[in-house]
Amino acid sequence: MNEAVHTSSEFAQRVFSGIQPSGGLTLGNYLGAMKRFVDMQNEGSFETVYCMVDLHAITVWQDPEKLRHATRELCAGFIAAGIDPNQSILFNQSQAPEHAQLAWIFNCVARMGWMQRMTQWKDKAGKNQQNASLGLFAYPALMAADILIYHATHVPVGEDQKQHLELTRDVAIKFNHDYGIDFFPITEPVIEGTATRVMSLRDGSKKMSKSDPSDASRINMTDDTDTIAKKIRKAKTDPDALPSEEQGLEGRPEARNLINIYSALAEQPVGTVLRDFGGKQFSEFKPALSELAVEKLAPISMEMARLMLDSVEIDRILSHGAEQARAIATPILKKTYDIVGMISSN
Ligand code: AMP
Ligand code: TRP
Repeated sequence: MNEAVHTSSEFAQRVFSGIQPSGGLTLGNYLGAMKRFVDMQNEGSFETVYCMVDLHAITVWQDPEKLRHATRELCAGFIAAGIDPNQSILFNQSQAPEHAQLAWIFNCVARMGWMQRMTQWKDKAGKNQQNASLGLFAYPALMAADILIYHATHVPVGEDQKQHLELTRDVAIKFNHDYGIDFFPITEPVIEGTATRVMSLRDGSKKMSKSDPSDASRINMTDDTDTIAKKIRKAKTDPDALPSEEQGLEGRPEARNLINIYSALAEQPVGTVLRDFGGKQFSEFKPALSELAVEKLAPISMEMARLMLDSVEIDRILSHGAEQARAIATPILKKTYDIVGMISSN
């Protein structure tokens, strides 16, 4: 038994993250995930691998044509937001079969009890767990495989994924322990910034989500200028003026959410935003937020629409990305099989 404990610093600095093509991209995805993927790509100290996790999407029913469309649109979203396919590896999960192959091994490492504790499972399966897919239950083991098949060391995500990343660490620790080898890294979650949990515009206690039945609850990356302005104008608020200090946002979830969104879009600390808007009414703040949101999002949605005109090019980018991804994943899967005791052909 090798006693050394792996720290992520012993592995090459590699970032992996994924987004499900299960509908359109929201402002929450953009600020909580994609914008930070771009920052990590541009920072230059990481190899960056970004994935459209279509195998995760089908854990709940997806219409096949809509899934194909959403996957291409998500790819266009990544590129429009600033992911450069020449600088990052960009691909869809199902084109790299090593994810599903490693996930099977992890299904045999992870315990039922671990999965049963996952809040996303409890939320998504709801009251009728008996009728949820087995894939939905095993979802976090596939997510652990997505990350560990690249020996990724850093995973940027929104706050809602924290528990899944803890499970990823548990899978790596148990695998390494059971087989007596320090093979998988203990991944660092990267949950940073003022927009790790963007809330619904209609209810400051609920996450902004692409699956919320109310379209007014979210800003979609494909919304036009008028729609963005209208949704912000109608966003739920309270009757008070904005505070000048951050403590003044306590107990005011809707105000905090809009300020956080402003802060993340403007790339300014919350304190700076409150210095500018403290004492002002929402009737003055909301138009400023709309203008900022449109200024930042309109170029992205226009570029997405342009890229979507050439689906052949998108598919080419995805299959090239999958080849690059597999070049990393194949030897790691082979070594895993070897550790587990599978006989392979060479
Ligand atoms: P999903 O759309 O569930 O595949 O999420 C993709 C990424 O976006 C994950 O890193 C999530 O944590 C992040 N994300 C989704 N919704 C939000 C939100 N409302 N606020 C912040 N991050 C989010
Ligand atoms: N579960 C993530 C979500 O719903 C998506 C995801 C799948 C992911 N595999 C991943 C995120 C690996 C980070 C790393 O948001």
